[in-house]
Amino acid sequence: MLVSANEMMKKAYEGHYAVGQFNINNLEWTKAILQTAQENNSPVILGVSEGAGKYMCGFNTIVGMVKGMIETLGITVPVALHLDHGSYEAAKAVIRDGFSSVMFDGSHYGIDENIEKTKEIIALANEKGLSVEAEVGAIGGEEDGVIGRGEVADADECKLIADLGVTMLAAGIGNIHGKYPANWAGLDFEALKRISEKTNGMPLVLHGGTGIPADMITKAISMGVAKINVNTECQLAFAAAVRKYVEAGKDLEGKGFDPRKLLAPGVEAIKATVKEKMELFGSVGKA
Ligand code: 13P
Repeated sequence: MLVSANEMMKKAYEGHYAVGQFNINNLEWTKAILQTAQENNSPVILGVSEGAGKYMCGFNTIVGMVKGMIETLGITVPVALHLDHGSYEAAKAVIRDGFSSVMFDGSHYGIDENIEKTKEIIALANEKGLSVEAEVGAIGGEEDGVIGRGEVADADECKLIADLGVTMLAAGIGNIHGKYPANWAGLDFEALKRISEKTNGMPLVLHGGTGIPADMITKAISMGVAKINVNTECQLAFAAAVRKYVEAGKDLEGKGFDPRKLLAPGVEAIKATVKEKMELFGSVGKA
């Protein structure tokens, strides 16, 4: 069932669990995530970055693929198709092309411009019933590896954006995308407490889910995090499983070169990773 994230965020926040956003890259990825959600009776959010959108031949192609799979695979759990870190233009494009959820990331603008643009996206999204995620306090990437911690959002700015009527809010609390550097200082729970108290009732989003220790995840959920994004961890699991297959020479045995066979171990690895995250986030059985 393709739905916005409105209802699932409300239920997760009130029920003290988090819904996983898993980024998709192709058909195998999408199918693996949808099947795992169904098998575990869990709501799920499919994340699409702008780059992945281009790779998969545009947002309209993705909408067709996801809708087709939901129907053909008999997926009855709630599924949101969500733009990840969208620019202003991309946010408008997915609203037009049939996504059910959109992230507008205006965190690199000054707060006034972030507010203005977020407001416009909310108005457009509301017309079509999409959920909206906004961001305050940029979330760094692996290239920032020398820095022990990502940016920390200002709680007052979070409150300003939350009050615009977003569904969920991504706020930097020292988290970063990709693998964490060895000197990472961990999540800033003092900041999370301030943001959570100020935005009271707002489901918060934790980006950079890859590599955050389980106890920090559980603590963050108990403090108002209701959506957790995971991308790199599925990529690493997929790559390791396919590498193992090739290194074992399996592609050279019989019809082992058939892409449906070659990629199968990678698909199983994604499924195992997604299942593990759903269990950790507490979303199993919550569809
Ligand atoms: P990771 O790649 O670190 O899991 O982060 C995913 C993410 O936050 C997507 O927005």
